[in-house]
Amino acid sequence: MFLVSPNFPEIAQPSIEFKTFPDGDSYARINDIEKCQGEDVILFHRLYPKQNTAIFNASQILHTLKRVGARVTLVSPYLPYARQDKTFLMGEALSAQVLCKLLADFGVVKLVTVDCHFLKKEGESEYVHLKIHNTSANKLLVEHARKKVGLEQLEVISPDQGANYLVSEFGGKSMSKVRGDYDKGKGEEAYRSVQKIERGFDVKGKNVLILDDMIATGSTMIKAVENVKKGGARKVLCAATHGFFLNDSLAKLKSISDGVFTANSIPNEVAEVDIVPLLKKEAGVQ
Ligand code: R5P
Repeated sequence: MFLVSPNFPEIAQPSIEFKTFPDGDSYARINDIEKCQGEDVILFHRLYPKQNTAIFNASQILHTLKRVGARVTLVSPYLPYARQDKTFLMGEALSAQVLCKLLADFGVVKLVTVDCHFLKKEGESEYVHLKIHNTSANKLLVEHARKKVGLEQLEVISPDQGANYLVSEFGGKSMSKVRGDYDKGKGEEAYRSVQKIERGFDVKGKNVLILDDMIATGSTMIKAVENVKKGGARKVLCAATHGFFLNDSLAKLKSISDGVFTANSIPNEVAEVDIVPLLKKEAGVQ
């Protein structure tokens, strides 16, 4: 059987309720909990946006399911904290491990997710005792780009080496990215700015799709678009699996490119590629 969180209405009518007590504490309830007793349960719940609340809500639901002996596959298309899988300064938390350990401890038998930042490959893996089934939206994104602009001749490239796995099956090349230290003067915001994007291949006169796993502040994608345009690319599209579009990055990307879109793992106004059928298939739900 499967359960649907209110933050995943594209799957089906929600079967879980979340409310907030007057003091801000979270309330969670599973309708028909008796049907979950001793069962294999597939839980569709987004862990982003509002990640800290979404993670706590997931813990409440997982704990409730554990109490009735259910075995849970969690389906969450974007895994927050996945970019904190390495430390940059001594003493930093490995938050990707913290989250995965928490999910495993709460009884998640398997996590089904899409373009998990630290895995960089499709298939089954194990990360701090959490079994992860990672799938990629790259084929759907490339197919959408081709339909959108009617361009068969499309060079599919990535803005950095980390995203090479997204483009390599299309014969795509990758640029390279240099990040700086944590920005001083950003107060409590932890951010390492993108200093430059370099390219060791020719894009002159070509139609280009720049593909990344995510667009967050947009700095990476904006610099990548500027780079290929300077290099003489003809049409430039940019796409990512997960689109946060922080600050004014969406407006900026729209103004400098010939199109920008993402999958709907994170709802946003250019989430044009529907990954719900892919998620259902990977999770084994018809
Ligand atoms: C990083 O390695 C990722 O693949 C993305 O390139 C990055 O997280 C995008 O972040 P931003 O939009 O803030 O540059």
